[in-house]
Amino acid sequence: MSKVFGDVRHVLSANQFSKEWLERTLFVDAHLMRHYLENRPKKLLELVENKRLRFLFYEPSERTLDSFISAADLLGMKSVWLGDPSCSSSQAKGESFEDMIRIVNQYQYDAIILRSKSLGEAALAAKVSGIPIINAGDGAGEHPTQALLDVFTIHNSFGTLDGLTIGLVGDLKYSRTIHSLIRLLARWNLKKIYLISPPVLKLGETEKEILKFQQIEVEETTSLSAVASELDVVYLTRLQVERMPSSFVIEPKDLDVKLTRSILDNMKEASKVLHPLPRNNIMSELPEELTNDPKVIIFDQARNGLFVRMALLHQVLRS
Ligand code: NCD
Repeated sequence: MSKVFGDVRHVLSANQFSKEWLERTLFVDAHLMRHYLENRPKKLLELVENKRLRFLFYEPSERTLDSFISAADLLGMKSVWLGDPSCSSSQAKGESFEDMIRIVNQYQYDAIILRSKSLGEAALAAKVSGIPIINAGDGAGEHPTQALLDVFTIHNSFGTLDGLTIGLVGDLKYSRTIHSLIRLLARWNLKKIYLISPPVLKLGETEKEILKFQQIEVEETTSLSAVASELDVVYLTRLQVERMPSSFVIEPKDLDVKLTRSILDNMKEASKVLHPLPRNNIMSELPEELTNDPKVIIFDQARNGLFVRMALLHQVLRS
């Protein structure tokens, strides 16, 4: 089995990836994948053809599941998804998570793509798995493959991330996409990061320490409208209501964390708006009527997930 990132076989955290590896290997490979798909060859890459992927998704997913399955399919791999394991597997009879992973290891799979409900479960799976674990989101922990496609999308728009001012907006406390994105953004020499959230949804100390360690200028604010004209990239998130305690309340005055027509018009001509999706109407952070604005590139971003996940599967599984 190939060891992809130094000694690391599993994809657990965005911490694993260096700027050099991203720019020289993953992004190049992702562009190659796009090129391959545009030319519609019968077979993409013999190295990974017929590899078998097992999907274990304990939480709902649209983009991550579909783009991983499509990526695998377009690379000639086989995907097995047997429904939500919390009801369809023997975990419903009390089997431990570790035993479940050990069992999946017996059936000739080449990797497990895991979306779990709790922070740290991908790392727990990796401890008992002989085949690579790819973390497709672990509770309020991380979502490294989403962050890979996010930085790929920003890199495509600006040619680099060096010198950019980026606004991370909304639920910075519970959004795992934010937690992984910060780890990757810290690889570049950004001009500044604005952390724009209601006070009760501020970014945790671990991620703030990462930015501090990299000496990136950071400013926390509750108001997107106040700083929008400075931003090259606005990265919106939805409220992760499923992770919040039931007593959770956000004051109406703290809801200046959503995009409006006037905020969008006030942003620089070349600026871009990203969102990992899904967006929803709890806060309407990205209203439907702004969808087709040229600054809003959420569907390019989602499509890039296919190329980036093809490239990642290729890097993890070629042997
Ligand atoms: C995100 C996730 O699952 O963390 N969705 C995704 O994978 N694109 C974001 C979210 O659910 O808010």
